[in-house]
Amino acid sequence: MENEFSSMISGFSFAVPEKILTNFDMEKLVDTNDEWIRSRTGMQERHIADESTATSDLGTEAAKKALAKAGVKATDVDVIIFATATPDTPFPSTGCYVQRNIGAVNAAAFDISAACSGFLYGLSMADALIKGGGYKNILIIGGETLSKITDYTDRNTCVLFGDGAGAAVVQPSDGTRGIIHTLMKSDGRLVDLLNMPGGGSRIPASHESIDQRLHYIKMEGQEVFKHAVTAMGDAAVESLKKAGISSDELGLLIPHQANVRIMQATARRIKLPIEKVFMNVHKYGNTSAASIPIALTEAQEEGRLKEGDYCLLVSFGGGFTTGAVLFKM
Ligand code: ACO
Repeated sequence: MENEFSSMISGFSFAVPEKILTNFDMEKLVDTNDEWIRSRTGMQERHIADESTATSDLGTEAAKKALAKAGVKATDVDVIIFATATPDTPFPSTGCYVQRNIGAVNAAAFDISAACSGFLYGLSMADALIKGGGYKNILIIGGETLSKITDYTDRNTCVLFGDGAGAAVVQPSDGTRGIIHTLMKSDGRLVDLLNMPGGGSRIPASHESIDQRLHYIKMEGQEVFKHAVTAMGDAAVESLKKAGISSDELGLLIPHQANVRIMQATARRIKLPIEKVFMNVHKYGNTSAASIPIALTEAQEEGRLKEGDYCLLVSFGGGFTTGAVLFKM
């Protein structure tokens, strides 16, 4: 079919901390084992930031690489959108720290909070800003240091998360490729399934809140799993339908890397062979807003994403939030 493109993703990259925690390292922290983690999640290891590294440090590294790939100078960036659940500080935004670090003096910078869907919400906003706002160079970063809010005494959650950042530059389309369809959805009825209760205006930090371990991720794993399967499948179906593209025409599906079984279920829902699904959750765990840009970069580096291919990105996260972006490479 003939597509009309407004914007395109013209450069993307990622950064992860050096330190790796393997499943065998997790065995020393909590009552778990490599076999359980692999079979339930597909994860083998995850990268963990050191004490002195904040989310903006990883985001800055990823942003610099993405700008270099796109051939865009930092001073030409119009907007910086930083998607994260682990900002450096509640305010100012992590986007502003990156702006300072890269010298993007002409940009507007802000954060968005959409958990694991943050990067796709950012792409959707960038597409709209280019379509309606006349912006030219938009830098989107999805970055997390989830290790800072992970309870390493809770085996239900601590094996799942890792740190990292991915970045992309979105520009007006050259007319031959670009974003075809974007989708953003939320279901606030499900806020209690996955959250960090402490540290906001509801429960500000106090000795009591720390003693109650409220500054860590809390999750109803099985419930999240069920909703994630439905939400990701629905989003994938709707995106393909709205774009008028069949799953046969799809070159690659890059889902949020939360769990191999959730990704497999999403592929089954759109009748896509598993070979057309990109997965790297075994290397990074769930890096929330960073997972899709990290996967996108590795997919390209491994030759899985070729010029002219249709690629579908799909995510879910705390909120609940769901996102999808369909583009032609
Ligand atoms: N090691 C060993 N056993 C464990 C571990 C562990 N790390 N964690 C839990 N178990 C135990 C449980 O205690 C339970 O034991 P019990 O039966 O004696 O009570 C047993 O394993 C089975 O637990 P289930 O919850 O049934 O395991 P399940 O197959 O559902 O897998 C998992 C758990 C991996 C958490 C799964 O539910 C899942 O992936 N959920 C979605 C999580 C997710 O993607 N969250 C991120 C959302 S994105 C975002 O916004 C950050």
